[in-house]
Amino acid sequence: MTKPTFKSKQLVLREVEPRDKPIRKVAGLDPDYTHMTSREPDKVTEIWDDASVDQWYDDILADPTRWVIEYEGEAIGVVGYRRANIEDTWHGFGTTATCAVGIWPKRYRRLGLGAEALELMFDYAFEDEKIHRLQMKVLETNTAARAAYQSLGFVEEGVERESAMIGGKWVNYVRGGLLEQDRRKRNNA
Ligand SMILES: CC(C)(COP(=O)(O)OP(=O)(O)OC[C@H]1O[C@@H](n2cnc3c(N)ncnc32)[C@H](O)[C@@H]1OP(=O)(O)O)[C@@H](O)C(=O)NCCC(=O)NCCS
Repeated sequence: MTKPTFKSKQLVLREVEPRDKPIRKVAGLDPDYTHMTSREPDKVTEIWDDASVDQWYDDILADPTRWVIEYEGEAIGVVGYRRANIEDTWHGFGTTATCAVGIWPKRYRRLGLGAEALELMFDYAFEDEKIHRLQMKVLETNTAARAAYQSLGFVEEGVERESAMIGGKWVNYVRGGLLEQDRRKRNNA
């Protein structure tokens, strides 16, 4: 299936391209970014070698719901969602999906671009793909991601206590969700 491309005022959400690889590699070596996305900062150089960048590229190509975020002609991040397994009747018959977003270079954060990319993707997920519930799971300490999701109407629903070991310490995750009716209400307000 060909991945659709989306455009907003400032952004394009598009398929990954070979020219994105070096940009992603640099972002992968930023311990600040790596920590926010729950990888262990001290393992960063092992994770982002050329082979892992190639793997990242192949994974996005094969993933129908993950897009590169392009701003002023260059890749600056990635946004996507993953549906619950359609076969898994315990988890909503595939009408629930978990989101992820990242703006790689620090200089492009806090300009409204992360929220703009998520909004573009939400239009597609809710309206075209008939997702009922989008959810997020982020480190409790990730104030940026929590603020970004909340600014778009996500409701924080609970804390997963000590659900991962990062850098030798147990960490909590916060979970939250946005329902299609929450979004409709926001859009009509
Ligand atoms: C999370 C992330 C994508 C946010 O993107 P961004 O482009 O910097 O965020 P925006 O500029 O669109 O801001 C959206 C809202 O979040 C708030 N926000 C963003 N960063 C913040 C921070 N560090 N502290 C407090 N609030 C913050 C903004 O003020 C804005 O709120 P408002 O609309 O009420 O003013 C970005 O910080 C990032 O890439 N982080 C690393 C990857 C990551 O942690 N991803 C989440 C895991 S899925």
